[in-house]
Amino acid sequence: MKKYASYLLLLLFFTAHATLSAQKTLRTLASPNKQTAVTVGLNKTGEPFYKITYRGKTAVDWSRLGFNTKEYNLHSGFKLAATKITTHDETWKPVWGEVAQIRDHYNELAYTLSDETGCTMIIRFRAYEEGAGFRYEFPLQDCKTKVTVTDELTEFQMTGDHTAWWIPGDYDSNEHVYTTGKISAIDCAWYNREHAISTQHIVKMKNVQTPITMKTADGTHIALAEAALADFGALHLETDNNALKFKASLIPSADSTVKSVNTMPFHSPWRAVLLSKDAAGILESKLILNLNEPCKIEDVSWIKPQKYVGVWWEMHVGLATWDLEATQDMMAATGREVKGRHGANTENVKRYIDFAGKYGFDGVLVEGWNIGWKDWFGKWKDEVFDFAKPYPDFDIDELTRYAREKGVRIIAHHETSSAVPSYERQMDAAYAFMNKYNQNAVKTGYVGKIIPRGEWHDGQWMNNHYLRVAERTAKNRIMVDMHEPVRPSGWHRTWPNWMACEAARGQEFNAWSTGNPPEHECILPFTRILGGPMDYTPGIFETRMNTYDPKKTEVVHTTVAKQLALYVTLYSPLQMAADLPENYEKRLDVFQFIRDVPVDWDDTRILNAAVGDYITIARRQKGAQNWFLGSITDENPRNFSMKLDFLPAGKTYEATIYADGPGAHWKENPYPVNISKRTVRKGDVLEIQLAAGGGCAVSLVVK
Ligand code: NOJ
Ligand code: CA
Repeated sequence: MKKYASYLLLLLFFTAHATLSAQKTLRTLASPNKQTAVTVGLNKTGEPFYKITYRGKTAVDWSRLGFNTKEYNLHSGFKLAATKITTHDETWKPVWGEVAQIRDHYNELAYTLSDETGCTMIIRFRAYEEGAGFRYEFPLQDCKTKVTVTDELTEFQMTGDHTAWWIPGDYDSNEHVYTTGKISAIDCAWYNREHAISTQHIVKMKNVQTPITMKTADGTHIALAEAALADFGALHLETDNNALKFKASLIPSADSTVKSVNTMPFHSPWRAVLLSKDAAGILESKLILNLNEPCKIEDVSWIKPQKYVGVWWEMHVGLATWDLEATQDMMAATGREVKGRHGANTENVKRYIDFAGKYGFDGVLVEGWNIGWKDWFGKWKDEVFDFAKPYPDFDIDELTRYAREKGVRIIAHHETSSAVPSYERQMDAAYAFMNKYNQNAVKTGYVGKIIPRGEWHDGQWMNNHYLRVAERTAKNRIMVDMHEPVRPSGWHRTWPNWMACEAARGQEFNAWSTGNPPEHECILPFTRILGGPMDYTPGIFETRMNTYDPKKTEVVHTTVAKQLALYVTLYSPLQMAADLPENYEKRLDVFQFIRDVPVDWDDTRILNAAVGDYITIARRQKGAQNWFLGSITDENPRNFSMKLDFLPAGKTYEATIYADGPGAHWKENPYPVNISKRTVRKGDVLEIQLAAGGGCAVSLVVK
């Protein structure tokens, strides 16, 4: 009962005891087909509240809106000045994506409030069939010029103790293992002790990151997220375990009392509530993308989804180093033993270029090519890297020539070590250098604590930096993949050259830590990936690290067949084949799936899904009739009968099925992959057997 006390109070506020004037402020906005409805109103002290219903039931109960700021009262004493409802129905084509076109269909309410000075704040709500979004807008006005936000008061009142999938509200990293549990049990204290990573700042034990996804007792799925994060601290949520409520908790700036400073006119990012009757609907939702602005790049012809290989995994497994000169330093800083030589040497890079050319990959990522690596890790040092100065054993002229000859491009790597002003000073020169050497894609990185000191990876200053990089790379016709940024919020609609981000716990953790539990890849698409593609780097065939060093005990927590299926289930327009060329050459029959699988799609069907348990997805190749299917499970083996209803009638397909082989198990026996071929048509049934931590990948090619 205690849990619902605040809810009951609010209910009374708006019904029995509501003043006539408060009641008069109530407005309801329904989605076009009335599946979702948002009601908003002011209580008698002029505080704004909202609630959301979905399919006739309350999804978010009466919840507060507004801000604490240094200058103004932006949470109470408001009067309703105007309301306007409009409707919008448009279909747009993403430059790349999971589907060829996206419908953006919503009703919108501009709820304009005025304060005692006559100044206005608009709360703009959009109601979609699959949820709702709202944001705060501050038009240009004489009475207000600058707002220093000290706290966002937005709340999300849940209606029960839902099951939630969450990671802690870390100011500096999102590379965490997910926890599954009730809202009433959310607590980062034990998490902080057991899962610490190298750069983290978890100070509020009840804070979680968005997107957080929940399942209610009746199976409704709710994800709380943000869209179009810009010029603001990222949205984390503070949990009230008793009231079953989340309150906005923005990442502060270097001045810890300040969450963001904004100048009129401005608006907050969108706060998004994704709603679905089942887990699959959350994966299908385009709400976050739709809340972002249309593409700002006029000529997008140079933006190309692609697969790549790279001088990368060999550093993570300890066979090579990023630095040419200070291996000892690096070992001391990371505590990892590294044998071997500098990875980015000309001869070794040529080996990868040969491999990419031979097997049809577009790019070769090269990490450790530029000077500065001796100081990159754990030193919190300014001026570490030079982004236009290769190490002497990396012959960039020769490698550019060689790559051109083989029809591939080198993907640049800009590890900033979070010395961000230094990177900003060098950006123009660095991108001009890339253009000179025929490079049109860069992977950036933000390892370690941020400079300017005191800023956080998820704070307003850094969020503006990531956008500056997206804009500046676009200007130079460069595609970008960011590691260690804030988690994405759909900006790739606006800046489609921003192909992917890491911004979560990627494959690399399997090489040198306790790893990613088998359920991890069954949670990512419902949480982190809702905001945009992830550079997860799948495709590891040699899953046991003791292959490289008998003392090592780390393993990849999947079977090899699951590594293949991830190319379909973890959507990204940029996918790495992350393992070493020699490991692929040993299993060319299995590798064939990675060669064949596309990275751009016209259609996507979620065939089944349960958060944290399993996902089966079929996708149709861009501009073709071929389909690809991926099915993955957590630590539990599962069998599915999949009706191939998504295939068009009247066509015959050759299915190549890459299944977990006899006795496969992610830990005990990860290697066996059973490859079989079958002729199939629409309506045929595919029996899929997934091992513990296993998967199945299928290519369906028109005959
Ligand atoms: C962390 C990134 O996630 C990884 O991909 C990269 O290799 C290292 N930093 C070095 O920049
Ligand atoms: Ca990382």
